[in-house]
Amino acid sequence: MNQNKWWQKATVYQIYPRSFQDSNGDGVGDIPGIIQRLPYLKELGVQVIWLSPIYQSPNDDNGYDISDYRKILPEFGTMADVDEMITIAHELGLKIMMDLVVNHTSGEHHWFQQSRQSRDNPYRDYYIWRDPVDGHEPNNWLSDFGGSAWAFDEKTKQYYLHLFSKKQPDLNWENPALREAIYETMAWWLNKGIDGFRMDVINLISKQTGLPNDPNVNADNHGSSMTFVANGPKVHQYLQEMNAKVLSRNDIITVGETPGVTTSDAIQYAGFDSHELQMIFQFEHTEIDNSREGLGKWSDERFNLVDLKRILSKWQTALDGKAWNSLYWNNHDRPRVVSRFGDDSEAYRVVSAKMLATTLHFMQGTPYIYQGEEIGMTNVDWSSISQYQDIDTLNAYQDLVVEQQRVSPERMMTYIHHSSRDNARTPMQWDDSNQAGFTKGKPWLAVNSNYETINVAQALADQQSIFYFYKKIIALRQQMPLITNGHYQVLDMADSEVYAYKRIGVDSELLVISNFTNQTLTRHYTLNDGANMILSNYDDDQGDTLRPYESKVYFEGT
Ligand code: GLC
Ligand code: CA
Repeated sequence: MNQNKWWQKATVYQIYPRSFQDSNGDGVGDIPGIIQRLPYLKELGVQVIWLSPIYQSPNDDNGYDISDYRKILPEFGTMADVDEMITIAHELGLKIMMDLVVNHTSGEHHWFQQSRQSRDNPYRDYYIWRDPVDGHEPNNWLSDFGGSAWAFDEKTKQYYLHLFSKKQPDLNWENPALREAIYETMAWWLNKGIDGFRMDVINLISKQTGLPNDPNVNADNHGSSMTFVANGPKVHQYLQEMNAKVLSRNDIITVGETPGVTTSDAIQYAGFDSHELQMIFQFEHTEIDNSREGLGKWSDERFNLVDLKRILSKWQTALDGKAWNSLYWNNHDRPRVVSRFGDDSEAYRVVSAKMLATTLHFMQGTPYIYQGEEIGMTNVDWSSISQYQDIDTLNAYQDLVVEQQRVSPERMMTYIHHSSRDNARTPMQWDDSNQAGFTKGKPWLAVNSNYETINVAQALADQQSIFYFYKKIIALRQQMPLITNGHYQVLDMADSEVYAYKRIGVDSELLVISNFTNQTLTRHYTLNDGANMILSNYDDDQGDTLRPYESKVYFEGT
């Protein structure tokens, strides 16, 4: 693999437009705001920007419920703004990757509006409709956002499937007309000049034949049938078709979001010769601190480092030479990594954020940075549920606290502080002015109260900031093929305090050592003669002594 593809060496930056930069004071981030901040991303040095959805949407799930794939949500701007953003990004050498949400649409999409009119409407088969069974739901599937995955529609007396909210009906990929309509839309966007797609829950598009019950659902399982539905019988056929008709005709970057995949699934989705996607987002390491009581992500467990090493090492090794990994700690659905796997206290926030960056960015794959990660933004801990807006958080609270009374309100708030998606969605902290420079008005979601100390202006003014550390790491990846191509080898898997691994090339090696604790530790790793430390989050090297959250990288070879 000496001939790397550009997307294998690229670092991607994810923007959640609603929370990035507001330009007109309505409290909602927008496209002109993004345009204003493109030079900032250029300065950081990333190659690709992934935009969470900017399409027309009633915002039941913040844009992941699309009502028109070819229109822009007016709150975000106009299509002319989008064209301008693409042009300016390209002038700066930045590529733009769009979010493609095609497992479901919004219930307000005209396809669904038509579909629900009558059983013989031409759009009926764009969605998944079934008769009631004994007066009930057609099967036991659970929505990822709580409750049954079926909703009854009075007008035609059938249920429709929605793996997410009731306002996100699932599309019927069995229908060739639907598939064609999606491919045409993708081609239409590519024609506008965009450079790739991040595909939302793309491995849910093919449902099991006959829609059988999910054997994992039981009465007290607050779960989701997502994993059961995932990787259905025709998913590879559909993705190969999409690849042949659209993807392969363009030099673009593609990544599929795929809950519930194994490494062998990944080799099918993202194999070098599988003609489907270039890479996928697997979920295993993000589910590492899930509840032990069957409450899914609603927990406040602290992760265990050996589990993290085991999972990441498995992915590194299994895909090497066969398929391509994505590397991520954060996105708009996950809590902030410095709060979760690092230490967001004043003493250790900066050093632990850098340690986490090092640990991930020296692995094989394409790294993704989520807005604010590069300045070490942290979780929020609002005291009242009424301060939260995320549908997933609100539904879970309603379900677990109000209806089932399985979790006390106090406990649930600790779970929410730990896991809510709103942790990632608070506005980007640009400076220490009112509302962190995000808006001149009232932000749609409150700004994290630590914005006076944690913000971009501060980071840019400090050569030792997390920002410049990320900048350095991103640049190193562009310069050193070993970071892209080296074979991964974990050292001392059973060590529960230090994560150390090598990247091995033909005549060179990298050694990455990260102390995941706030303690000073002693560890000995054998270095070859002539090994150079190329990166560290401390000023000097104390050899076998590892200070709190110390992380360093040695290079040896030619
Ligand atoms: C994906 C998105 C998430 C969304 C869900 C339904 O997991 O990342 O934000 O709620 O799909 O579209
Ligand atoms: Ca705005």
